[in-house]
Order: sequence, then structure tokens, then C-alpha cells
Amino acid sequence: MRVTGITSLIVALALLSSSEADARCKVFTQSTMYDAGISPVGAWRTDYPSSSSPGTPAYSAISFATEPARYMEAVLETVRPHFRFRNASLVGTGSEPWWMSEWMDYEKFGREPLMGLTKELAPRARQLSPTSRSGSQVWAVNFYNEPGAVALHQVFAEPCSPVVPEKLLFQEGTVAIKFLFTDANLGRFAGQVDYLNGAPVYRAHIDREGVGFPADTSRRETRDVNLLQLDIGVRDSNAIKTGWVFGTFVWMGPPKGDGLFDNFVPAVLLWGNDEGVVTDDIKESWINPAIKAKLSGWNERPFLGFRGRANGPADNQNSSCLSCHAAARLPLAAEGIAKSGSTPVDLSDAAAVAAHVDLWFKNIKPGEVFQPTSPPAVATLDYSLQVRAAIERMCQACEDGALDSITPDICVKAGYFAGSRCVPQGADKVIASQGRRQIQSLPRE
Ligand code: HEC
Repeated sequence: MRVTGITSLIVALALLSSSEADARCKVFTQSTMYDAGISPVGAWRTDYPSSSSPGTPAYSAISFATEPARYMEAVLETVRPHFRFRNASLVGTGSEPWWMSEWMDYEKFGREPLMGLTKELAPRARQLSPTSRSGSQVWAVNFYNEPGAVALHQVFAEPCSPVVPEKLLFQEGTVAIKFLFTDANLGRFAGQVDYLNGAPVYRAHIDREGVGFPADTSRRETRDVNLLQLDIGVRDSNAIKTGWVFGTFVWMGPPKGDGLFDNFVPAVLLWGNDEGVVTDDIKESWINPAIKAKLSGWNERPFLGFRGRANGPADNQNSSCLSCHAAARLPLAAEGIAKSGSTPVDLSDAAAVAAHVDLWFKNIKPGEVFQPTSPPAVATLDYSLQVRAAIERMCQACEDGALDSITPDICVKAGYFAGSRCVPQGADKVIASQGRRQIQSLPRE
């Protein structure tokens, strides 16, 4: 027994160190995760599987439309055994069947070292609660389960030279999850988000207190954050209009149990966009009535997603989970991924509301392209904004000279950087006009 234990420990360690090594593209020199001089660096897997045998997950027998909370709890059961809260950190249990994406570790919003979080949002005043002020930060880390990680294998088997098919498709049974953390109820923000009172404290190496839009990753500090949300995205063909079911759990106190899963309350779920619906008669989203009033219903936050569609506290109220994610393509459409959250749609302007609904709340199926001619897409990414962000960051690194290689194909095809070699020297540095350097705005806005 003892020998087996030690042997499996050695195997696990070998696995971990090889996956960590894999995470580093050798010709990439400015990783915000591995080169920050902070330890220990979060040990997440990037040793993607090349195949996954289909199973029948328990949630697939539950109707998301009639039993949304039960559906969500069943999805949570596939996550719960594999993550722990330990030493003020989110950690995996060792060989957890969950993988993170390559290439999120570059630039201003790039992965911090301790838990691998990327910067998502600088919430506006009264976005997270009726009393929350501006200046706080939201950071997050995403994982795909085994069926989902097969798509990451397809793209990132060669991390320095990714291959992005014209139609990236995730397998049925894919689950994507995202743990979101915030300092919005800590330090000088203490007491501003009441549902986080008493929440366990995690440590992350993030921007200094009050820094919404960072200029310099070298000025990050190790600070306290709380868990805020757990997002889920499930590739479930029972969602016939979109192929995906998205939803979020919100961490709600008072604290109990494991400091991680035991306080997650199913908050919202959606399986369609309520195409064409301009009123608040929303049928393809579920908002948990028991906690709705904690998360929306005041002037600055009349609803979570547009007109009552599902979205989380840390989300743009002009959007919905599915709406934003349906815009995952390369290059990004000229319209972006959502109408900016700082300028709410004027609900008294019927024409503006109709135009907004028409543009943003179409049901898009896996393999279909959002705004196909604006400009033409070279790849549609099946709702994965993570893959889109990863590729954009890599192309940005290429353009900045932080990646010392031949320019990856996809950066040229998508028009992000047209030089033949990454290092931006002289006439070789050509930025194609259709390329959009989306990295300049926070991902979740
Ligand atoms: C305003 C746009 C926007 C909205 C609204 C939004 N997201 Fe995302 N989401 C993003 C971006 C951008 C990323 C990738 C970049 C990152 O993670 O930093 C992402 C990543 C994710 C991921 C990782 C896998 C993937 O598909 O990219 C999951 C899971 C996810 N979001 C779930 C949700 C859920 C659930 C909701 C609603 C509660 C939601 N998102 C609402 C923009 C949005």
C-alpha cells in the first residue's frame, strides 16, 4: 500500500511538473504567471487530452427549464470533488480532470501567479450590491472538463503555434467553469457587499487597492479576495436553440462548511436568448427568486442581464451570458462582444431597445458566426471567449516582441499582426487594419 502511495505520488508530481513545463512556451518571455517572481505558482493542468469517451452525466437527465436549480446542483457535483480551499488558495486535488487555457498569462490583465487569475472587471458603483462603490476588482480562473479540454488540445497541442480550425466545436458534455474572486467587501470596501460578509479569504497577487485599469503588472501586490461567483457553461444539445446552457452560482453568507462550494447558491441559468423579446417577459432564463432582490432591483442595476435575462453580478447588464459568449470569433466583430456596460440602453427609447435586442439576442448555434461580415471571421469559436482571449493575447505578445518566433498563422489570418516574424522590428511591424487590440478593454465589460 505504502509503495503504491509513494509511486502514485511520484507519478502525480511528474505529471504536474510536466504540465507546468508544457504551460510555458519556451520562446515566450513575459509570462505574468511564471515570470512574476512570486511563489508558489498555481499548479493547473495544461496537459490536454486528445480524446474523451462520451459519458452520460447525471445533469443531462434533468430539465434545465423546469428544474434549473437541480440541474445546476448536478453540474456542481462534477466540480466539487476536484477543488479545495487550502492555505488561502484555490487548489486542485492533484490530478483533477480540469484544464486551463494556455496564453492567458500576458499583459495587463494576465494571470496572476498564486491562483492563475486573470483580471475581468472593475465593477461600477452599485453594480455588485446597492451599496458597493467603484474601485474594486474582479479576477477569475477558468477550466474545461475533459470533453472540453479536447478542443484545447486541438488548438494548443503546440502552445507556441496554435491551430485554430475555421469552426472550433466543443463536444457534447463539455463543461466550462469559472471561479470569480473580488476585493469588493474587503479593506476600504468592507461591508459594501453584504452577502460576502464573513466569507473566507483567499490570497492573490493583483492590482493595488483601488486600481481599476492597471498600467503596470510589476506594481501588483499580494492581497485578500473573496469568492464571488462560480460560472458554468454546459454544452448540452437539449438546449436546441444555442447548444449551450450557461449560469452562475453566487457565494452567499453566512459562511458554512468548506469555504468553497457549500455557500454557492444557484443564482441564474439560461438556455436561449429570448430572441426578439423587447419587454421583460423573459422565458428562456431562470433567476432564483429567493436571492433576486440581493443582486438587482435598484436604479443602477434594474436587472442582471438585459430586461431580466440571466447574467451574474459581475456582468454587463446590457448583455446576458449567452449573448456575450455567442460573439466568440476571430477576429472579433466590429461590434465587439457586448454593448459597453457603462452606457445602459435607454429603456424608454423603443427603437433603441429593439435595435439592441435585434443585434445582441439572436440565438447562435455552435459553428454559426456572429455578425459574419463585420468583418468576415476566420474562425468561429463555439462560445469560447477564453480561446478568443488566449489567441488575442498571444498575437499581442507576438506584436510586442514578447514571443520570439515566426508569426503564428492565426495572427496573420485574423489580421492581428502581419509581420513574418514576431519581434517587431522596423518595416516588419505591420498592424493589419482589421485587427482589433481588444486587450485594451477589460474582458467582462
Ligand atoms: C460582457 C461579456 C460577458 C458576459 C456577459 C459573460 N461573460 Fe463569460 N467570459 C467573458 C470573457 C471575455 C471570457 C474570457 C476571458 C476571460 O476569462 O478572462 C469569459 C469566459 C467565461 C468562461 C470560460 C470559458 C469560455 O467559454 O470562455 C465561462 C465558463 C464563462 N465566461 C461563463 C459565463 C457565465 C455563466 C456568464 C453569465 C453569468 C458569463 N460568462 C457572462 C465575457 C462575458
